[in-house]
Amino acid sequence: MSVEKLVVIGQGYVGLPLAMRAVEAGMDVVGLDVDTDRVKKLASGESFVEDIPADRLGRALASGRYRPSAEYPDAEGFDVCVITVPTPLRDGTPDLSYVEQAGVGIGPYVRPGCAVVLESTTYPGTTEELLRPLLESASGLRSPGDFHLGYSPERIDPGNPTWRLENTPKVVSGVDAESLVRVDEFYRRIVTRTVPVASTRVAELTKLIENTFRQVNIALINELTMLSHHLGIDVWQAIEAAETKPFGFMPFRPGPGVGGHCLPIDPCYLSWQVKRRLGRQFRFIELANDVNHEMPEHVTQRIMAGLNRTGRAVSGARLLLLGLAYKKNTGDMRDSPAVEVVRRLHDLGAEVRAVEPYAEPHQIPGGVLVVPLTEQEVAAADAVVVVTDHDVFDYDIVTRRARYVFDTRNRCSGPAVERL
Ligand SMILES: NC(=O)c1ccc[n+]([C@@H]2O[C@H](COP(=O)([O-])OP(=O)(O)OC[C@H]3O[C@@H](n4cnc5c(N)ncnc54)[C@H](O)[C@@H]3O)[C@@H](O)[C@H]2O)c1
Repeated sequence: MSVEKLVVIGQGYVGLPLAMRAVEAGMDVVGLDVDTDRVKKLASGESFVEDIPADRLGRALASGRYRPSAEYPDAEGFDVCVITVPTPLRDGTPDLSYVEQAGVGIGPYVRPGCAVVLESTTYPGTTEELLRPLLESASGLRSPGDFHLGYSPERIDPGNPTWRLENTPKVVSGVDAESLVRVDEFYRRIVTRTVPVASTRVAELTKLIENTFRQVNIALINELTMLSHHLGIDVWQAIEAAETKPFGFMPFRPGPGVGGHCLPIDPCYLSWQVKRRLGRQFRFIELANDVNHEMPEHVTQRIMAGLNRTGRAVSGARLLLLGLAYKKNTGDMRDSPAVEVVRRLHDLGAEVRAVEPYAEPHQIPGGVLVVPLTEQEVAAADAVVVVTDHDVFDYDIVTRRARYVFDTRNRCSGPAVERL
């Protein structure tokens, strides 16, 4: 059976690209989101996701096959529903309330033969232990048996021009063989390659392995960076040399800390469940979190020491931060380590200005003046700090005009530049 009507619950960084791609694959798509403002903007052709330009959204709307909506009744008669709602942490504990609300909202529209797929990142067991009972009790149907149910982790990498939704292999799973076939069939219309796995738990764990791997390796290189600084060795040169090894090594780069919706959060879903189920600690994750949390303080200390060497105190100094988002070429400020760096610098009495072309004004931390990247701004700053290395920045201005640069991303060179 081919999918005619798809409902995507959540029209954010994950849900909107999926909805667009499905429209392009010929499906009728309802993009459900409880954020009525977001729905209105989408309906008027305004995209807030950098990877979805307004003209792509415009084409989807013009096709008549994409309808943003805040009303669950618009899901009526769906063939496939994909849930892409947030899964944050609340005081260190997984907050699955959005998944629960989505399950309760879509449950009444579940009908025999349809398929529901969870994409939100979560701990193993969520699809079968949390989502399934909600769908079953709201619909009076069973899965497996009446409707299909599966899990497919998202691998969206915002701002990555090479690996997009459609050409990144997609892991798919189902609660039984039939569900797997159905889920796989759907995603084969969306992406070039699917990777079927034996159970929803394996698929859920796959995502957590991927993100925990990144979190732990970034922490490893961050800790090594702090230690190398004290040893007087340039870690960037060592990484560059190590990456010439053609096997058994994968380079990770240091930075001011980790941020976003995934790395600081997803591994905690795993350690939380390990603690709950096994009463044990997932030590690598705890350690990685600790190290990565140290980075904003380390960056602040290094800026302070750098200013000191130029004869300036951080108190009263004018600092220009380049980039505030957690990730380059995006405006995503969620859990950005830049916010922590700014807070510390403010506490120390610095005047903080920032160049951040992507983030929306309401996301900018209080007390930060957003300015353009000009020769005057750079020359007037006591220190320029490269926090997020957006490609649009003119680093040449920085190297030519800055008195002192603290570069956390290895983008600048020259006598005034100090690297993390
Ligand atoms: N952003 C990424 O790069 C990325 C990558 C991989 C996985 N993920 C995972 O995907 C999931 C979604 O992340 P995101 O970045 O798209 O989040 P997002 O905040 O950009 O979008 C989620 C959307 O869901 C909406 N929403 C919340 N509750 C709802 C409900 N009950 N019904 C309908 N809409 C609802 C919100 O209003 C929001 O617009 C998370 O679990 C995240 O961990 C994200």
